[in-house]
Amino acid sequence: MRIGIPAETRPGERRVAATPETVKKLCAGGNTVLVQKGAGAGAFFSDSDFAAAGAQLAETAADVYAAADMTLKVRGPEPEEIRALRSGTVLVGLLTPHRQDLMQAYAQHGLTAFAMERLPRISRAQGMDALSSQANIGGYKAVLLAAHYYRRFFPMLMTAAGTVKAARVLVLGAGVAGLQAIATAKRLGSVVEAFDVRAAVKEQVESLGAKFVEVPAAPGDSGETAGGYAKEMSEDYQRRQAELIHQRAQAADVVITTALIPGKPAPALISEDTVKAMKLGSVIVDLAVEAGGNCPLTETDQVVERHGVTLVGFSNLPSMVAADASALYARNLLNFLGLLLDPKTGALNIPMEDEIIRGALVCHQGTIQPSGA
Ligand code: NAI
Repeated sequence: MRIGIPAETRPGERRVAATPETVKKLCAGGNTVLVQKGAGAGAFFSDSDFAAAGAQLAETAADVYAAADMTLKVRGPEPEEIRALRSGTVLVGLLTPHRQDLMQAYAQHGLTAFAMERLPRISRAQGMDALSSQANIGGYKAVLLAAHYYRRFFPMLMTAAGTVKAARVLVLGAGVAGLQAIATAKRLGSVVEAFDVRAAVKEQVESLGAKFVEVPAAPGDSGETAGGYAKEMSEDYQRRQAELIHQRAQAADVVITTALIPGKPAPALISEDTVKAMKLGSVIVDLAVEAGGNCPLTETDQVVERHGVTLVGFSNLPSMVAADASALYARNLLNFLGLLLDPKTGALNIPMEDEIIRGALVCHQGTIQPSGA
């Protein structure tokens, strides 16, 4: 296969879909890899490192698209990029499969497209799980941003000039990002509490040394689908949850929100009244901002102050840790390609019977595939 790596075009996107390490492995597997000059610059991978790993360098994205049988991307291509892809190209990336306009554009263009967001969360797919690798980074960076905007210390300090109290951090949503936020906040010496609708995460939260905050139980409260994801909760539960969050947020100095429900807008967990009740100088980092936010006052890609609380709404935290985010993402793609490409010749063979392939395939030779087909 001729595998193309164009530079990302989305403003602020510093990641790249391949690294010299993965290029070397792809070349050793019988493929030719074409990298657009400067594609790795935002993540500090130089053209000469890519060339030394065996890549051919291309001047422009159009040169990459014109030659590639397969294109690897971080973000799915926008309509003008799709037009530059050759019909029949295999596309792999974070393709936002809920965007029907893009899916239709892939189909019209005769593409075969794999959306990394659609991989089933099964053990065999863990090494390919880009949502997890990037959420992990997001959770880490969220805490560092909170520490940056919070005008006090995170750890408890005993100094000659007196004692400084440890910051209290509340993490809402204890999935992959939330658990990393808990671990990072603990490492910085803060006191951490966390909450999730899925009671199953209580043990994981406690094993990281944080306190699990529980909504008083009522019959039928399960917050988990059979697939292990969160679901939308009843109005009664939401009311009890809002009361509890209102109370815990007042005690907190920093709130990191990561709550998401797949395919739905993010649940609004921190109301304006709760923000008003929080301590002056508190910080909220809203990781759910791209899905509408867990706090309605957060503004996308802005840091704003409302009622004395700083709200941080950066939508692409993995891109702020672009070197490691790219390294992990590129390995996720390499592992995924292991299912598609012959390890010696690089020949493409799509194993349609594989549930990982069926999950990720959103468009096959110009036909949109229903979710999990
Ligand atoms: P996510 O990014 O979809 O959601 C983040 C968290 O928000 C979840 O823990 C969810 O329960 C929580 N949440 C949703 N609504 C909420 C509300 N109203 N209040 C508080 N919290 C709320 O989740 P993520 O991180 O993608 O993980 C989803 C599931 O997939 C988890 O069960 C996770 O353990 C599982 N998983 C399994 C993997 C595997 O290989 N077996 C790999 C990664 C994740």
